Amino acid sequence: MTNAHVTVHSAAVIDRIAPEVHGHFSEHLGRCIYDGIWHGEADEEVGFREDVVDLLSELDIPVLRWPGGCFADDYHWEDGIGPREERPRRRNLFWAQDARNLPEESNAFGTDEFLELCEHIGTEPYLAVNVGSGDPREAADWVEYCNYDGDTELADRRRENGHEEPYSVRYWGIGNENWGCGGQMTPEQYAREYRRYATYVGSMDKLMLDHDLELIACGFENHEWNRRFMDEIGSSSWGVEFPLDHLTLHHYYGRSFSVAEADEDRYDRFLAEALEIEDHIDRIAAAIDAVATTRDIGVIIDEWGAWHPESVAESGLEQPGTVLDALSAAAVLDVFNDHSDVMTMANIAQTVNVLHCLVETDGDDAWPRPTYRVFDLYAPHKGNDAVRTSVDSPTRALDDGTELPLVGASASTGNDGTYVTVTNLDCREAHVVEIALEGKTPSRADAEVLFADHEVNTAATVDNADEFAAEELDVSVEDGVLTAELAASTVAGIAVR
Ligand code: AHR
Repeated sequence: MTNAHVTVHSAAVIDRIAPEVHGHFSEHLGRCIYDGIWHGEADEEVGFREDVVDLLSELDIPVLRWPGGCFADDYHWEDGIGPREERPRRRNLFWAQDARNLPEESNAFGTDEFLELCEHIGTEPYLAVNVGSGDPREAADWVEYCNYDGDTELADRRRENGHEEPYSVRYWGIGNENWGCGGQMTPEQYAREYRRYATYVGSMDKLMLDHDLELIACGFENHEWNRRFMDEIGSSSWGVEFPLDHLTLHHYYGRSFSVAEADEDRYDRFLAEALEIEDHIDRIAAAIDAVATTRDIGVIIDEWGAWHPESVAESGLEQPGTVLDALSAAAVLDVFNDHSDVMTMANIAQTVNVLHCLVETDGDDAWPRPTYRVFDLYAPHKGNDAVRTSVDSPTRALDDGTELPLVGASASTGNDGTYVTVTNLDCREAHVVEIALEGKTPSRADAEVLFADHEVNTAATVDNADEFAAEELDVSVEDGVLTAELAASTVAGIAVR
């Protein structure tokens, strides 16, 4: 029985899918940086973990945000440059950093280490400056250290630290969650701070040889806050040409949903919470549009993902990485595709070991989690043109009145034809899905499926991680219509020619 129909409206292009929506976020928190990406401190054998660097390189990450998170608004970047043995040890105001659970920061991993990591794995860096406890001068100096090619003391310090050429860092975040851990500011207060920072950080732009800086402001899931922020920004003497390239918000879901205690009803609720991201994207885009009438300002979701009750400060925000989390990631990536006209970046939190990470480590072992497989499966969408899809799907009515669509999909077109991703969000049963491409009669489909052999609450471990790799999926093609059966809790990627 066919119970879901996907129609790909091939001629209805939404926009190019910014590859940056497959971005990542890494913070000085728990075992993300130390132990996860970098091992050792100043006086030991130090360096990048090659196994993690390899896994991240294979994923072809377009952009990586650092150093926080809440950590960013109490980070003084000059603590983390120069000879490692001379760098000061500081308290980490928000997060424990090491195996002893001490909230301390060795500064062994700083700006040059992060930017080298980005070079190794071929990714664009995105730095978040300190607004909460810093000042605009410190932020502008950071831009100068990273990007300036002239004959100044800061550019020379970069050269002394082994980097003759400027790094050309493009993305600069002005603070993090400044409505919360970044200074508890009102929207008007943050807008005024933003303007001060943008004046100095933004002015560095004209000193750069070949690079445009892109400035990023923090928004909130409270959309009244975003509206007031935009109003205040728009009322400056810059008028509507204010220097703001992107506005962000963070969307975490599943906070009341313990992985250990889950049942099928809770799975549904969790997936519905993940899908709320669509409403947030629409609402923040509307807040932007109401003020930014003559310039494009993109939407960035620069922290997103599952945050279960297992993730508390004492556990270093660690939680098991299950198939369920991976399904939610697929659903969210479909939403990003459908909103490619406004979405300029997104960064899943966090890269290694923390929250909804893609890579997990234990001692000398490192392995990909199920969500890593989803990012891999969705990779062909990056840089393609997203096209409208309509999904006629069965739904499940949840206790709070939400109708959870059980099948989701998105599609894009590019040099290799049309790529369609389809997710069976139903944790209870399989669905047969028919896919038609308006105006096209495809003759061939090459398809892969994830998680067909796994229960939805299974987590990857070092021993079973390979079993989560994609498998071939049978897709029949008749009169140009594709048909596939998707087992419960699975994700498929279908290349149509
Ligand atoms: O990712 C963990 C924390 O969540 C970040 O530091 C903060 O920005 C958010 O609240």
